[in-house]
Amino acid sequence: MATVIITGANRGIGLELCRQFQERGDTVIAACRNSSEALDKLGVRVEAGVDVCSAQAVSLFVEILSGQKIDILVNCAGTLEGNTLNSLDFDSIRRQFEVNSIGPLRISAALLPRLSAGSKIAIITSRMGSIADNDSGGQYGYRMSKTAINMAAKSLSIDLAPKNIAVGLFHPGFVRTEMTGGNGLINADESAAGLIQRIDDLSMENTGSFYHANGEPLPW
Ligand SMILES: NC(=O)c1ccc[n+]([C@@H]2O[C@H](COP(=O)([O-])OP(=O)(O)OC[C@H]3O[C@@H](n4cnc5c(N)ncnc54)[C@H](OP(=O)(O)O)[C@@H]3O)[C@@H](O)[C@H]2O)c1
Repeated sequence: MATVIITGANRGIGLELCRQFQERGDTVIAACRNSSEALDKLGVRVEAGVDVCSAQAVSLFVEILSGQKIDILVNCAGTLEGNTLNSLDFDSIRRQFEVNSIGPLRISAALLPRLSAGSKIAIITSRMGSIADNDSGGQYGYRMSKTAINMAAKSLSIDLAPKNIAVGLFHPGFVRTEMTGGNGLINADESAAGLIQRIDDLSMENTGSFYHANGEPLPW
């Protein structure tokens, strides 16, 4: 059974990933800024105070995990702030880069010493970061920040190939969570089940690829 770390674990898709990994017998370490009643109820190990934008918080987290071997790191923490061309807010765009692009790269790099051959890094990105798939415009900060993490993940997949660590980018679908104001096509449980299948299928053969949770390969 695997030891799995999930960021953004207190709600939404991250919470559901914790539930499903735990249900199948994996050891879950749930990383979040603040826990929630729902997360506490799962009975998994919770590490609060893990703000992916804080170098200090992330180093503390790495220290706490000293000696711990990690099989799967799921970078799920993310944020969406609406930006249209008529209401561009550069601070908001910068914040989204901090959480969505720099955050997962920071955590993945910091935890590398805990990963070994056969470990996997999953990054929950969005098809809104696909340039080829963009046919509706807008959402400047969110789209740009997800495109940036897609590029970072591709580089990670190349840099970590000699260590036999696979890196995958996954779009969870359009999921009913707080991020979408409850709108969406699927619930978090369906999304998490698909994501776990994709993570199971992630290997050195398909490292550096970009998939929808439903198994469809996505264009860059
Ligand atoms: N829902 C969708 O349709 C959809 C579609 C495409 C991609 N995604 C991606 O899927 C992932 C999960 O989204 P969701 O729908 O589950 O959203 P959500 O319900 O809004 O949850 C977002 C999670 O990210 C955490 N987070 C935000 N900023 C953080 C920070 N600085 N440090 C640590 N954690 C932080 C939140 O924690 P707090 O409670 O502390 O804020 C929360 O746990 C995100 O990466 C999102 O971009 C979602």
